[in-house]
Amino acid sequence: MRILVTGGTGFVGRHVATRLLRDGHRVRLMGRDFGEVGALLATGAEPWRADLRDAAAVAGACHGVDAVIHCGALSAPWGPRAAFEAVNIGGTAAVLAGCRTHAVARMVLISSPAVTFTGRDHVDTTEAAPYPRRFSSSYARTKAIAEQLVRAADDVSSVILRPKAVFGPGDRALLPRVIAAARTGRLPQVGAGRNLVDLTYVENVAHAVALALTRPGVEGRTFHITNGEHVPLWGLIRDVLSRLGIPARLRPVPLAALSLLAGLMEARAAITGREPLLTRYTVAILGRTQTYDISAARRDLGYTPLVSVAEGVDRTLAGLASAR
Ligand SMILES: NC(=O)c1ccc[n+]([C@@H]2O[C@H](COP(=O)([O-])OP(=O)(O)OC[C@H]3O[C@@H](n4cnc5c(N)ncnc54)[C@H](OP(=O)(O)O)[C@@H]3O)[C@@H](O)[C@H]2O)c1
Repeated sequence: MRILVTGGTGFVGRHVATRLLRDGHRVRLMGRDFGEVGALLATGAEPWRADLRDAAAVAGACHGVDAVIHCGALSAPWGPRAAFEAVNIGGTAAVLAGCRTHAVARMVLISSPAVTFTGRDHVDTTEAAPYPRRFSSSYARTKAIAEQLVRAADDVSSVILRPKAVFGPGDRALLPRVIAAARTGRLPQVGAGRNLVDLTYVENVAHAVALALTRPGVEGRTFHITNGEHVPLWGLIRDVLSRLGIPARLRPVPLAALSLLAGLMEARAAITGREPLLTRYTVAILGRTQTYDISAARRDLGYTPLVSVAEGVDRTLAGLASAR
């Protein structure tokens, strides 16, 4: 197939493109900054510069492709509401219009379990969980609206994947942020430290995408994707820090206190326009149990995680060491 990967210049998109090229597909990478994809371009990926906020440019990128993997998004814990709306809602509408215009046979939206996150513990949450009345962030809200746009577009054959907490070489958000905060002594342990989380090694996401492209009978479906291992988050963080030789005395601070502090920081950020050190969303993500049921993906997509969390952490740390 000839496949367009929006956000092909980003962390998840790069790994998805690598997998699709390895499977023998032709891949078009859409993004704006091609500085980190030299290796992919050298292996035959086609660069396509387009902004998700420019519907005509997005439609142009959809010309001549059989499938679109829509990874491009503004994915940050904080930022102006209008920026999330323009990229995550407007960009998804533009991709759907492009798929329609050019009769693209399959569209895969990379969404997130953040869309149903209530800020409380989630234990084995299934895809049937409703959207919350109040979203935990602009990111979550706009990704949920993007999902609804995709489901409503019954003239575009689509699958929605919701990978939870993606990690791996090239990630700049998850582990690197935690490590940077620990290095400067600014990482408290959020809550009692017993919360379990599901993580997803990035190549497992790429594997799920490859399945969603071709699996019959999954049109219109939404799937949680994780490693299927419930990991004690703070045990993992301590292990990673100790392997990196970072002395970390992670002082436990009650979740409610940190959430209050984060609320104040967000209020100040709304005035200064500068990103707060903490948001209530980040506090909840670090302090709550978040496990997701992947039995639908196992049964109907034929998904099995290929790389374990332990192996994924080894590969991620090796990637960090070689990048130094
Ligand atoms: N990482 C996770 O833990 C995680 C978990 C669940 C779901 N997801 C989803 O996975 C997808 C990829 O996330 P990621 O972690 O790979 O994020 P990332 O590294 O920040 O990549 C985001 C991508 O979106 C592109 N993009 C952003 N704004 C754009 C715009 N205005 N026009 C064109 N392209 C734009 C970026 O391209 P340029 O930089 O070239 O502009 C980049 O390629 C997102 O949809 C996210 O919601 C991620």
